[in-house]
Amino acid sequence: MNLAIEIENITKTYPGVLANSDVSISVNSGSIHAIVGENGAGKSTLMKILYGMIKPDSGSIQIFESNANMSSPKDAINLGIGMVHQHFMLAKNLTVLENIILGIDKPLLKNIKLSKYKSEIKKVMDLYSLNINLNQYIDELSVGEKQRVEIIKVLYRGAKILILDEPTAVLVPQEVKELFKNLKELKDKGVTILFISHKLDEVLEIADEISVMRSGQMIDTVMNNNVSKIQLAEMMIGKSLPTPPPRITSSEDEEVLSINNLSSIDEDGRTVFKNITFKVHKSEILGIAGVEGNGQKEVVESIIGIHPLDTGEVVFRGEDIKKQSTRERLESGISFIPEDRQLQAMIMDMNLTNNVIIGRQNIEKYKSSLGTVKTRNAAKESEKIISSFEVKTPSTNTLATALSGGNQQKFVVGRELEDNPSLLIASQPTRGIDIGAQSLIWEKLRNSRDEGLSVLLISADLEELIGLSDRIIVFYQGKLVKELDADKVSPEDLGGYMTGLKK
Ligand SMILES: Nc1ncnc2c1ncn2[C@@H]1O[C@H](COP(=O)(O)OP(=O)(O)OP(=O)(O)O)[C@@H](O)[C@H]1O
Ligand SMILES: [Mg+2]
Repeated sequence: MNLAIEIENITKTYPGVLANSDVSISVNSGSIHAIVGENGAGKSTLMKILYGMIKPDSGSIQIFESNANMSSPKDAINLGIGMVHQHFMLAKNLTVLENIILGIDKPLLKNIKLSKYKSEIKKVMDLYSLNINLNQYIDELSVGEKQRVEIIKVLYRGAKILILDEPTAVLVPQEVKELFKNLKELKDKGVTILFISHKLDEVLEIADEISVMRSGQMIDTVMNNNVSKIQLAEMMIGKSLPTPPPRITSSEDEEVLSINNLSSIDEDGRTVFKNITFKVHKSEILGIAGVEGNGQKEVVESIIGIHPLDTGEVVFRGEDIKKQSTRERLESGISFIPEDRQLQAMIMDMNLTNNVIIGRQNIEKYKSSLGTVKTRNAAKESEKIISSFEVKTPSTNTLATALSGGNQQKFVVGRELEDNPSLLIASQPTRGIDIGAQSLIWEKLRNSRDEGLSVLLISADLEELIGLSDRIIVFYQGKLVKELDADKVSPEDLGGYMTGLKK
């Protein structure tokens, strides 16, 4: 088989970090090659080097068996390499068509013949069996569809090698299925795919070969049919994972959060959610299941006050907090892990210590009489988070953006658990986190729950939802359609309620 990519002896250091250490890897043309490894192992760094975004300190790359000297993504694109970023880079208020041709420096945009572009793009879509309405606005698309636009965009630019860094982290199970169908089609047409994921079941489903990285080094590359999930996990984290013990404590009767008859109608008169009623008890994890877009995200946002309500009550520890500001709610003992860490949870070009303080400037610990903040206390706090959540970073002064994605996530979870909240609203708390760190976070959440914390858990990972929750409620078309005992439900059943097939 021909080689599409040959990476030889790549090394890349950052101050205090050896991100890639003498990494070599060969990728067969027309194959799907997965890269797995714990958070901070160096996967994204390697992909950014391959895409010309970062220059390595040393080492060489061959693309289709010729030397590749890349100093920018432009060079990579010219060599037939395309990358779909985890945070999509689409312009929301433009159509699919406009987004795909955006930035192509052929004729000036105002003079272009849209119909010519349209037929060229249609050809690409037909060739690879990818379907999307070119006239739709990006705003109107689901996450899976936006990702498809990104893929079509790079294929239209001639990509024969496709880099996907954690493409499934943002997708619901149905969308993952659709993506995998598309990837197999692309592979059959000769496209080479590099695929990064923390979900080992997915990797085993889609990849031909799997490379494992650890601490900046390439540990091994194995054929898919020669490896089990457990072996893969052990190669990744160097040890096997403990199975969680069954719960021995139980939830208390006290209602920490009581949601009564919540409804919300949007500007166009459509129901966002309707007559939602549920309770979260002290020492309980209540899971919320639902395919994206069924109202659950908005219900949760209305609890912390960032989504408007039309009717209903949000009772937290006996008091209706509906009229309180978001800040008052957060200061009164509600913690929030938003689903998008980079947009909502951290300020990326601030260091970790300052990221501990944001939104908490008024807390006793950080507020000084002079109207400034007590940075020293925050530095202590951030040190504590780094050690107890095993966040990989050289120091508390490191900028958030210099952490690997999974380590940013671990830091946010640690911060939100730090101040002993009464209620934690956790949206996708382990998204992008490696299996070792995931089991650490699960353990922390279970322990906090056993010590009295109430958790409202929203997760697209059904295994996580079932494994962590005490009870699960299911949202479908803006309504709460089912309550289930987490001990007695299978992922298939849960999926059935989520898609409306089961009632
Ligand atoms: N711009 C940067 N400045 C300093 N250090 C960086 C920078 N980018 C990455 N690093 C460091 O390099 C190491 C590898 O990071 P990388 O993002 O490649 O990990 P990863 O394997 O993709 O992890 P994850 O699974 O969490 O996404 C990490 O320790 C990270 O902190
Ligand atoms: Mg990464």
